[in-house]
Amino acid sequence: MSDRTCLAIVLAAGLGTRMRSPLPKVLHEIGGLPLVGHVLNSVAEAGATQVAVVVGPDMPKLEAHVAQQAPSATCHTQMERLGTAHAVKAAEDVYKAAPDHVLVLFGDTPLVTCDTLNRLRERLSQGADVVVLGFQTENPFGYGRLLEEGGELVAIREEKDATSDERRVTLCNAGIMAFKGSALKDLVNAIKNENANNEYYLTDAVEVAHAKGLRVVAETASEEEVQGINNRKQLSACEAVFQTRRRDAAMESGVTLVAPETVYFSHDTVLEPDVYVEPNVVFGPGVHIASGARIRAFSHLESASVCVDATVGPYARLRPGAKIGEGAHIGNFVEIKNAQIEAGAKVNHLSYIGDARVGAKSNVGAGTITCNYDGYMKHHTDIGAGSFIGSNSVLVAPLKLGDGAFVAAGSVVTSDIPENALVIGRSKQVVKENRATKMRQTLAAAKAARKS
Ligand code: UD1
Ligand code: CA
Repeated sequence: MSDRTCLAIVLAAGLGTRMRSPLPKVLHEIGGLPLVGHVLNSVAEAGATQVAVVVGPDMPKLEAHVAQQAPSATCHTQMERLGTAHAVKAAEDVYKAAPDHVLVLFGDTPLVTCDTLNRLRERLSQGADVVVLGFQTENPFGYGRLLEEGGELVAIREEKDATSDERRVTLCNAGIMAFKGSALKDLVNAIKNENANNEYYLTDAVEVAHAKGLRVVAETASEEEVQGINNRKQLSACEAVFQTRRRDAAMESGVTLVAPETVYFSHDTVLEPDVYVEPNVVFGPGVHIASGARIRAFSHLESASVCVDATVGPYARLRPGAKIGEGAHIGNFVEIKNAQIEAGAKVNHLSYIGDARVGAKSNVGAGTITCNYDGYMKHHTDIGAGSFIGSNSVLVAPLKLGDGAFVAAGSVVTSDIPENALVIGRSKQVVKENRATKMRQTLAAAKAARKS
């Protein structure tokens, strides 16, 4: 397939009014990535050499997402929504050069796989001029029906235009079509808007092609793979399929998920083989966990990396820029942001470490926090290797602690400490013998006086 040019046209002009959102529909996310981003990934994987996205007027956020996700893709504006064939025509500048293959996809159908797209391309390579992706369903209502005669596809009939016999057909149009590039322009130009909606339907390309004696065939995929999204309920249904796929792929690759249905993945989560994930863990975007690491229950991680054999959680939060070194321990109710916790270091209980480095094998005691923010700017804390930070210490940044520093519990540390120094930054303890007994007597007497 790789020697053939392939243009992918992604239709994304729809507003998606049933999402009840100011955001264009295809910018809603599954696995933390906009729907259209999933489609852009699939077409790239299927070897598209060129990508054209058809957008509606005034969708700057959508254009910005396309520029970021697929920098070489071009955006084409469909000024009026006159149907799917009319939308394809917005990209005529690109397809008139007649690439070998053209794939047309919908931006709101995010689960289609590279395998399926490759099967469509395979059929083109074997001589078909048009390939339509269909699926079998028990509830065909609302979908275009694929009408076949003798193994050839002769037409697609939209629900509103179908006869009652045609409506009984359960093989439906998924909305994804593949064309021989040399045929597309004439087919699109021949489509008329003579139907119940007065729209130019791309699906009519089938009837036009059949009448011209071209070869039109259907390929099928599962209903699950080609489900589209028109509302929030369907969005959650697609999210569920996406999560199941990611959990299955993780386990297949050697990751233990103790309770897979409670672990949430992002589109780009990387878990190396032999990672162990306890129940109720959320992976936000940009997470990489190396082999042998253990992510314990109820932890939330985003834009963070965890090295081999490290332990995170239970109840830990790794925020963007958290880098947990080999064999390091991050324990319960600990938040790490933009900080390197080097190999073998431990931050085990109730701490906030932000904008910092914790040197190798250091131990940060319970309740320790870095004061990284003065209300205006963020400041860095650097803790040398082999340091011991006593419990409930406050490290006021900017601050540098040399290797082997020892901070007494409860200290407020405001200035740099040299290597191997001990710092005690707290008020001196005062002990008054028997004073407690006297105090109790005084208080008891005062209480008795009030009662009488
Ligand atoms: C379409 C198919 C139908 C199929 C169903 C599968 C047509 C005519 N019908 O119906 O056979 O069973 O999808 O879900 O193709 N779009 C534009 N500009 C337009 C019109 C649509 O960009 O002028 C885009 C939409 O944003 C959407 C896609 O094309 O991504 C499909 O349009 P939609 O109106 O949702 O078509 P359906 O009625 O669902
Ligand atoms: Ca639709």
